[in-house]
Amino acid sequence: MLLGVNIDHVATLRQARYATMPDAPHAEPRVLEAARAALEGGADSITLHVREDRRHMQDADAFAVRREIPLPLNLEMGATQAMLDVALKLKPDYVCLVPERRQEITTEGGLDVAGHRDSLRELVAALQANGSRVSMFIDPDVCQVEASAAIGAPMIELHTGRFANTLGAERNAEVERLIAAATRGHELGLEVHAGHGIQIPNLADLNRVPYLSELNIGHTIIARAVFIGLTAAVREMKAAISSYRW
Ligand code: PXP
Repeated sequence: MLLGVNIDHVATLRQARYATMPDAPHAEPRVLEAARAALEGGADSITLHVREDRRHMQDADAFAVRREIPLPLNLEMGATQAMLDVALKLKPDYVCLVPERRQEITTEGGLDVAGHRDSLRELVAALQANGSRVSMFIDPDVCQVEASAAIGAPMIELHTGRFANTLGAERNAEVERLIAAATRGHELGLEVHAGHGIQIPNLADLNRVPYLSELNIGHTIIARAVFIGLTAAVREMKAAISSYRW
């Protein structure tokens, strides 16, 4: 199981103080330092989300990570022409297309691929032609999995937000949805990832979902890093996910 480490919240903290001067030499914490710490802790890729409103990651952060960090870069982006223009220049190894609403605190809900097949097919083709492997961030819904395969995306990332925020019978129902979606993705030849709200205590339930090859994890790693440092927090998560088998 590979671990993509989302370091957006490092930029969130920097912007809390230095939004008007994110490139100043004294603006901290530094995104590049976070990416290096994640690399040292065993991250398999670095994920960052350049949002339309640039609330945390700035374009310069993405280009610096691309240039300086010898790990695959996974750019999360909204499905817009403006973000396509950034991705065409940045040439990330992976792009994860996500829905974006300005009012949300973090990405809530998956992309409606089934409802936007034509525009998303074009976007996926443009990104893939530019050398980025594309993944669709979708709810664990078989219809969205099938639509992702139909428009030519090679990878999906299943949204685990509902899974993470429920318990008992509801959690169980979410695990069943994730199993069905992952199984369908695998049958269709898609690479299946998962992300959002994953924490060490919910990994035991997540481990029931087959065919996962990568988890994208941000919030809990950065939260833990406040107390034990980022390299140790990444190392801890890598160890926690290493028992996954299917
Ligand atoms: N995957 C995607 C597509 C996301 O948008 C996010 C949140 O930014 C994550 C994974 C990571 O979620 P979390 O920060 O809850 O671990």
